[in-house]
Amino acid sequence: MSVQVKEKNITIATFLKKKAEKEKITMLTAYDCSTARYFDEAGVDSILVGDSLGMVILGYESTHHVTMEEMKIFTSAVCRGAKRALVVADMPFMSYHTTVEDAVKNAGALIKSGATAVKLEGAGDFILSVVKRLTETGIPVVGHLGFTPQYLNVLGGYKIQGKSCENTLLILEQAKKLEEAGAFAIVLEMVPEEAANYITQRLNIPTIGIGAGKYCDGQVLVCDDILGKFSEFKPKFARRYANFQEEIIKAAKDYISDVKTAAFPDDAESFHLNEEEIKKLESNK
Ligand code: KIV
Repeated sequence: MSVQVKEKNITIATFLKKKAEKEKITMLTAYDCSTARYFDEAGVDSILVGDSLGMVILGYESTHHVTMEEMKIFTSAVCRGAKRALVVADMPFMSYHTTVEDAVKNAGALIKSGATAVKLEGAGDFILSVVKRLTETGIPVVGHLGFTPQYLNVLGGYKIQGKSCENTLLILEQAKKLEEAGAFAIVLEMVPEEAANYITQRLNIPTIGIGAGKYCDGQVLVCDDILGKFSEFKPKFARRYANFQEEIIKAAKDYISDVKTAAFPDDAESFHLNEEEIKKLESNK
């Protein structure tokens, strides 16, 4: 008798094992159920419900406007689609900065929406106390260092971080503090490849790079960037694997033209009365 062994879900232990075995971790953002299902079927290790959804889905100018209510809705949609991949939900701006209690309550709400872990930005003393408490509470945490979009106004724009030896050492110190506080992975955004490599080599937990070169333990990209759907700007580090923008516009144009010329809907796309009912209708003048 052959026993079908179901592929196990990706867990935090999988992340650590992959780092130890030098196997790359793959992560993509997704914000809806069907995209999450397709990424899951494709075999991605982890899906991030990034607060980038504020810009790519909701049309905000920055991630600052994203609310907990929005994150809960998108997180539960993604979790309904992802069966295998580990889902990480971003804690939105100001959802973990007031008190540790508020941070626990808000992180808990994202876990109740279906996420396995939450991601938060920075490594100041208060953030470290939040990471420690969340981990103690049973909520796994991914850190986020380098360019941290929620600090956009403090950083003075979309700027590469860790451009000097001193800054690289500073990010490493922050990363080590996050690791000590209990984070199980760290996203490194827009950091020079050599700096990211130096940091990655000195951590026990995996680094997931975005614009941080090839030596990170894993990579993450925004789904609208890989699909060519977000056209406001294309970050240097994003690789486009499809051109959805062109496809969507073409599909909409073809549809408009078919409707205008009555080429849509055709017979097969319509419901029909049987002959008898048609005759009755015709005699009912
Ligand atoms: O919000 C997001 O999509 C992110 C990625 C850029 C890592 O944080």
